[in-house]
Amino acid sequence: MKNHLIPLLLLAALLCVSCQSSEKKWRIGISQCSEDIWRYKQNYELQLSQYADPRIDISILSADDNDERQIEQIRQFLHEGIDLLIVAPNKAATLSEVIDSAYDSGVPVVLFDRKTNSDKYSAFMGADNYALGSMMGAYIAKQMQATGTLVEITGLKGSSPAIERHRGFMDALQAFPGIRVISSELGDWTEESGEIAMQQILDELPGLEIDCVFGHNDRLALGARRVLMSAGKTDIHYYGVDALPTAGGGMECVQQGILEASCIYPTRGLQLMKLATDILDGKPYERITTLTSTIVNRRNVDILLAQYQEQQRVSNELERAKSKIDEYFLQLNQQRKIILAFIIVTVIIITLVVLAYRFYAAKLHLNEEMVKEILAGVTVAKEEPKPSESEAAPDTPPHAPALQPELTESSFLDRFRTLLQSHLHEPDFNVERMGEEIGMSRVQLYRKVKTLTGQTPVELLRKARLTRALHLLQTTDRSISEIGYEVGFSAPSYFAKCFKDEYGKSPGEMRNES
Ligand code: FRU
Repeated sequence: MKNHLIPLLLLAALLCVSCQSSEKKWRIGISQCSEDIWRYKQNYELQLSQYADPRIDISILSADDNDERQIEQIRQFLHEGIDLLIVAPNKAATLSEVIDSAYDSGVPVVLFDRKTNSDKYSAFMGADNYALGSMMGAYIAKQMQATGTLVEITGLKGSSPAIERHRGFMDALQAFPGIRVISSELGDWTEESGEIAMQQILDELPGLEIDCVFGHNDRLALGARRVLMSAGKTDIHYYGVDALPTAGGGMECVQQGILEASCIYPTRGLQLMKLATDILDGKPYERITTLTSTIVNRRNVDILLAQYQEQQRVSNELERAKSKIDEYFLQLNQQRKIILAFIIVTVIIITLVVLAYRFYAAKLHLNEEMVKEILAGVTVAKEEPKPSESEAAPDTPPHAPALQPELTESSFLDRFRTLLQSHLHEPDFNVERMGEEIGMSRVQLYRKVKTLTGQTPVELLRKARLTRALHLLQTTDRSISEIGYEVGFSAPSYFAKCFKDEYGKSPGEMRNES
């Protein structure tokens, strides 16, 4: 096992962990011009689309009908580094520049519902507001039997749906000269602005008989209605656009007779997100997607609402299933992390054990080699070389510890071996004596010998005695007791015991074998 195995294994484990979490996500910035029930429905659908495609990471900001805020929010998205921008521009002219710059910087731009004044966008999705205005104009004119007074309350001045709905509406009404149209441009898509616009008309034309009101959306129509109702005008018919099927939306108003009719202005969040991901995936896509709209009136509202409720039921089920799946994956992920951590820890432990084993095996081998080296020379008795006159300190007593300079490993071993060779025959040669001879305390000697050989000095002395005894047994005729005494054992029985412990055979058995 290589020494750099641990870092490699850890790296691999870390890579595994990061692989789990590094799946590429598409960051999609959604810039909503307004905040109202139409936007809520669409935002909900956009959020839902994340279930269908987990790569989508969406962030929705709403400008609350404020141009400057929307410009700022788009800049923020670009600064954060989004992969695609979906935007409903508040006013076409004001928002064009920042949206153009997003497009020019290489960020794909999907316009929906509203347009800019420029051609710099990747795709547009929305209803044909001119056709929608025209359809409503013709429908209302027919309901009015081509005669009477009709008030139009337009959406936000300068926003593309208001411009186009008005144009379509007016063009359609040209075919009905018996209808007098009074238009107010004070609306800004909110219900309050519908009230203000209607109030102003009443103030300016006090005796005006109104037959119908067309609001560019349902909220404008409802605002106008509130003013007219409080002015006691109860027999006016109201028409709007959006026909939301959600609670408090246009469909309910049609069902309850509050609105005469409305026109579906589709939100289609899922379809919009599919278009966005197709662009990001480099798949072919339609640059302009025109969503169809339908008039909702008392004849079809029940069926349309029932259809929507069924859709809702299904999507609620899906949401429930999705949250269960999420929970399951969360648990799975946690388990994966625990297993991974367990594997990493196990690998580290195994690696450490193997390394420790290798270290100790190497150390053991080294120790064995040292012991062999020490014992190699002990078979023969040797006279310890006398120190020369010049080396000997003049007043050093015969057995006083010589003051030794720090011995190197090999010179220490040489010295130790020589000591054993020359003194092992002496029964009183013990650790103290060794220490004295070598110039070390008992403890120092013990530590040094143990570190270098793995054996204690006493063990080595005994081994040395037995090694020489074995040699003498095999090479001489001397009696076993004689040999015992000769290698420093003062009792033959103790010699025999130690010999058997070391070689597994008694000295007699050993001699018979040789
Ligand atoms: C929603 C809304 C709708 C209207 C559309 C026009 O914010 O005001 O009511 O039909 O925008 O863009």
